[in-house]
Amino acid sequence: MNAFRNYLLAIIVLICCSCSNTQPKYIIGVSQCSEDIWRNWQNSEMELESNLHEGVELRFATAHNDSEIQIQQIDSLVDSGIDLLIVAPNQLSNVNPAINRAYDSGIPVIIFERKTDSQKYTAFMSADNYEMGHTMGEYVAMRLNGKGHIIEILGLKGSSPAEERHRGFADALRDTEIKILATLQGDWTEEKGYEAIKQYEGNLKDIDLVFAHNDRSALGARRAFIEAKINPLPLFCGIDGLPGKGGGIEMVRDEILDASYIYPTRGDQLLQLALDILDGKPYKRETMQTSALVTSDNANVLILESEEVVRQSQRINRLQEITSNYIQKLSSQRVISIMAVVLIFLLLVLIVGIYYHFLQRYRLNEERTKMEREQLDFYTQVSHELRTPLTLIQGPLELINETREAKEASPETKDLYRILQRNSLKLTDIINKMLDVEAKGHKGLELIDDSSMTPSPEHAPIVAPIVEEDETGAIHPDTILIVDDNADIRAYLRTILQNKYQLNEAADGQQGLALANEIVPDLIVSDVMMPVMNGLEFCQRIKSGTATSHIPVVLLTARAMSHHLIEGYESGADAYITKPFSAELLLARISNLLKSRHQLKNLFGTGAQAPSLSPKEDSFMLSFHKFIEKNMTDSDLNVETIGAELGLSRVQLYRKVKALTGLSPVEVLRKARLKKGKQLLENTNKSISEVAYEVGFSAPSYFTKCFRDEYSFNPSDMPTN
Ligand code: FRU
Repeated sequence: MNAFRNYLLAIIVLICCSCSNTQPKYIIGVSQCSEDIWRNWQNSEMELESNLHEGVELRFATAHNDSEIQIQQIDSLVDSGIDLLIVAPNQLSNVNPAINRAYDSGIPVIIFERKTDSQKYTAFMSADNYEMGHTMGEYVAMRLNGKGHIIEILGLKGSSPAEERHRGFADALRDTEIKILATLQGDWTEEKGYEAIKQYEGNLKDIDLVFAHNDRSALGARRAFIEAKINPLPLFCGIDGLPGKGGGIEMVRDEILDASYIYPTRGDQLLQLALDILDGKPYKRETMQTSALVTSDNANVLILESEEVVRQSQRINRLQEITSNYIQKLSSQRVISIMAVVLIFLLLVLIVGIYYHFLQRYRLNEERTKMEREQLDFYTQVSHELRTPLTLIQGPLELINETREAKEASPETKDLYRILQRNSLKLTDIINKMLDVEAKGHKGLELIDDSSMTPSPEHAPIVAPIVEEDETGAIHPDTILIVDDNADIRAYLRTILQNKYQLNEAADGQQGLALANEIVPDLIVSDVMMPVMNGLEFCQRIKSGTATSHIPVVLLTARAMSHHLIEGYESGADAYITKPFSAELLLARISNLLKSRHQLKNLFGTGAQAPSLSPKEDSFMLSFHKFIEKNMTDSDLNVETIGAELGLSRVQLYRKVKALTGLSPVEVLRKARLKKGKQLLENTNKSISEVAYEVGFSAPSYFTKCFRDEYSFNPSDMPTN
């Protein structure tokens, strides 16, 4: 049972594992230096890309322009068990300790967009910020026709793009007459751009152009100029050139900004690089992204393009949703299928288990029943063994007691007889009790007490021996066939029966069967336990043979268990007497059986309603009568012909018909002929001679004689019609 439970648990765990396989393949930490429209755009690009790869989890952190915060965030990302770190360092050097720790712990590190002065990174990806500043300087020079006054608002101090953009811008303007009146400190935010202009101490009216290091700062600066009611406003240039609502491209188109420069976000490319590293694929350590200036000339085209990009990415998103819905459905269907398979399997296991359980119980029951039967047989056998000698003590004692010598014996001798008798009865009683105890141990099996089935011997009417007449008219007593393997029992039975019956003996069922067929006795007394053919089979064969089926059979055996008794009656036995039996009981039983046979015969002989015979005897008698009826005109019809028709020898036919009807076959034939003759005389105008011949008499005078004998008047005295 325990093994079965463990087995079940294992299966359940297996199902759970197969159902909840949600463990990501890669966890990628993304440490952003700030949170703004540009970063958000980039993060969503990364997320979109990650959805196209199975088992990728992104963990974002944003430091809000604070290097200290970024250090802590990187450390905790590493502690959380990420497989790769992507960092946009807030400043060139300040974040290095955390980046170095991550790298040293074996995690691949991608630095993107902003630089670090540490070499501890796996790959770097950015656009060229110097180039950006330089291009913007060239544009400004061209826009202002080589002269004018400008203000530059820097990015965050210490961050690489701010430093590079400034350098590029300054280099481009070096040989022009354009004057940078002020280089103000910004920090990439709109607010700081606004404040920088607010705090500018020079005359804002002198300013022809403001170049801020990003679009947001440029927007802040513009707000300050508007607030200062400077009219006309100077030109504002920025960097980032984001697509979409509120992005730099739209601001250039709407002439809020004069120019911007696309600072590529490329979150998709960044994530692909990360996956290449994790998958062990080849990758470039340094990737420089190219980009372009946004002016009123190309803003519209770029917006159209970016709108198309947005549309496409929305479609991809939608597709993605549909796909993930399908995947979810598929996976729940998978779970259902697995559960169904497991359920069917468990059901099968259960069915097989129940089947084996019942099979085992059935086998055990069979075994137990077999053992009980064997035990019972053993006891029956022992009982038989004990009862036979007991019968041979008790019986002869009874007989001796009846002799004159015994009656005249001295009181001492009589006492000795009584002691003998008492003790043999006591021994019988002990054996019976012993068997009772044993049998009660077997449920459903009961001991049968012979005395309960038969009338008490004292009250059984003892019928005087019936003396029969044979074919030749000779008178002889009823014949009894004794079948027993024990010579002493046979001798004892002989002593009891020989005065009243003519006896024949056989030592086993087979011999008995042969003898019974030969002599067709009036009754058979047979033992049950015998070698070669036991009494039950013998009885059954007697009852199924045409010649012998009518013979009453008395079975003698040990005090029996009910199943033996049932078997005995099933074999067709007419009586069942248990050993030790008293001579009186046996005689009474035999006498009763023979008497009822004779009563049958008498009824038959008087022509009364046919007595109730067994179906077998009934059909025998029917065939017998039919045959006679059909062939009675034939005066040559004899006993041999009739016997041959019924499958019996002459003697067998005689004995059987005699036993059943009390008449010989010849007599039955004659009676049938006369009866038919009488009917013909009554119902036809045929003469006596005609009738006599018709019913098979060869001489009318003999017909007349027989008729008179049968009906006590002459056929000529029959009233004719
Ligand atoms: C976004 C941003 C951009 C700028 C870049 C410089 O956080 O401030 O506007 O171009 O970072 O690193």
